Amino acid sequence: MTQPVRVAILFSARGSNMQRLAHHLAKPSVGGEFVLAITNRPAAGGIEFCKAQGVPCAVIDHEDYETRAGFEAEMQKALDKAQVDLICAAGFMRLLTADFVTRWHDRIINIHPSLLPAYKGLNTHARVLADGGKEHGCSVHYMRAEMDDGPIILQKRVPVHGKDTADTLSARVLKLEHIAYPEAIKQIALKSGF
Ligand code: GAR
Repeated sequence: MTQPVRVAILFSARGSNMQRLAHHLAKPSVGGEFVLAITNRPAAGGIEFCKAQGVPCAVIDHEDYETRAGFEAEMQKALDKAQVDLICAAGFMRLLTADFVTRWHDRIINIHPSLLPAYKGLNTHARVLADGGKEHGCSVHYMRAEMDDGPIILQKRVPVHGKDTADTLSARVLKLEHIAYPEAIKQIALKSGF
């Protein structure tokens, strides 16, 4: 029998996508195992969830490191120790260097709240509204050195309503994110046979 793929999830705050992925990976039919969470924020809400689930969560505060390389070396150490195969960034609000992303080429994926390549970066919901966009959504993609760039695994779309605020739109997209990320993992699993 093949070994389960060992998954790490990176998050920075609430961690709702991390929690959805955790539930997905806990299903016996899924050949992946959530072996490590990493957050760069000591006050991240998602840490409590990891404690409750008994998932090791490494708190690696980027502010403790003078350089991005130093911060990432500490992450790499934790990833190596946990023998991680696949990294899922889920609301991880820290840019990763080209070195790190290249080392994890096609083994690091990300979820972003827009229909990439549109609206890379922050405040996507407010920017869609300001532009009078009629459609919005989320993307799961392989990470590349450029921010919010890389081959798309899947996208999900929502209509933008006339009365939407950034908050209502964000809530509608987040619901879809919670469906999209587990689906993306299923696709990768089918492709790579885990
Ligand atoms: C999610 O909407 C995620 O797509 C976004 O941060 C939020 C995290 O929510 N990520 C990015 O903007 C990355 N570019 P969560 O902590 O509840 O999963």
